Amino acid sequence: MQVVKNIDEVRAQVREWKTQGLTVGLVPTMGYLHDGHASLIDASRRDNDRTVVSVFVNPMQFGPTEDFESYPRDLERDSKLVEVHGGDIIFNPEPYEMYHEGFSSFVDMTVLTQELCGLSRPVHFRGVCTVVSKLFNIVKPDRAYFGKKDAQQLAVIRHMVDDLNMDIEIIGCPIVRESNGLAMSSRNTYLSDAEKKAALVLSKAVFLGMDMVKNGEKNSSVIIGKMKKLIEAEPLARIDYVKIVDSATMQQIPILNRPVLCAMAVYIGSTRLIDNFFTDEIGGGSHGNINA
Ligand code: PAJ
Repeated sequence: MQVVKNIDEVRAQVREWKTQGLTVGLVPTMGYLHDGHASLIDASRRDNDRTVVSVFVNPMQFGPTEDFESYPRDLERDSKLVEVHGGDIIFNPEPYEMYHEGFSSFVDMTVLTQELCGLSRPVHFRGVCTVVSKLFNIVKPDRAYFGKKDAQQLAVIRHMVDDLNMDIEIIGCPIVRESNGLAMSSRNTYLSDAEKKAALVLSKAVFLGMDMVKNGEKNSSVIIGKMKKLIEAEPLARIDYVKIVDSATMQQIPILNRPVLCAMAVYIGSTRLIDNFFTDEIGGGSHGNINA
């Protein structure tokens, strides 16, 4: 496993693999890797001959008051995780390698990005689409892996790939949770012990929503109302949104007459966390499979 910081170098390596007829998977990340990221690497290893993991805290997707500077970084730890999971390369460019002086081209999306997280993070998806397009152009993978934890991001990437005819298969992977239910996130490191406990309201609300759907509730506002009530009972939590939307268009759906996405963003103290579930993925049992 090697760490490559340079665009030309990663391109040369991928070109060599391709001339040998090998397939390449890409796992884009911002580092500080955890088991959620590892599950994407595992999935890429299953489907492809070689796996590139990018580790790049992308300045363009952070708003001016957001946590770009304080975002956790630990390349040594990340290298170990990638090595253990059999990734072949970490691509870890410096910001100037990705955004040279005079950089002025962006990939912007006008529709899906105006909903959910896009409302409170107006520049976020433009930054995500731009950096992911660049990573796709640099690595030219056969497949790229994204977590369903960032359900809107996954929908945006799928839409971008379709709109711009990018010849890359996008694979969505299930949310990986701690044993207590908390969805894994690099931002969980910001939480104090009290906040970690409080953060469990997100997954509790997810499991409550899942149970209601499983028990036949079809009215979105009833489901959302009960989920919000549960979250609001936690003093350290402040809701950004809890919404039920079409999983491709992100438009709100009042009655569950088709598979939908139920997504939320909640501040725990000053840390903004997200969680969600897709109604068509609710299995049997009482939200039995915590890793689903
Ligand atoms: P990051 O937050 O590091 O996440 C990288 C990938 O890991 C994303 O596809 C995300 O959905 C997935 N992921 C994170 N937590 C997960 C969990 N608990 N279970 C399953 N998958 C999980 O998302 C980004 O970085 C950036 O926006 C990026 C796409 C790299 C562009 O900069």
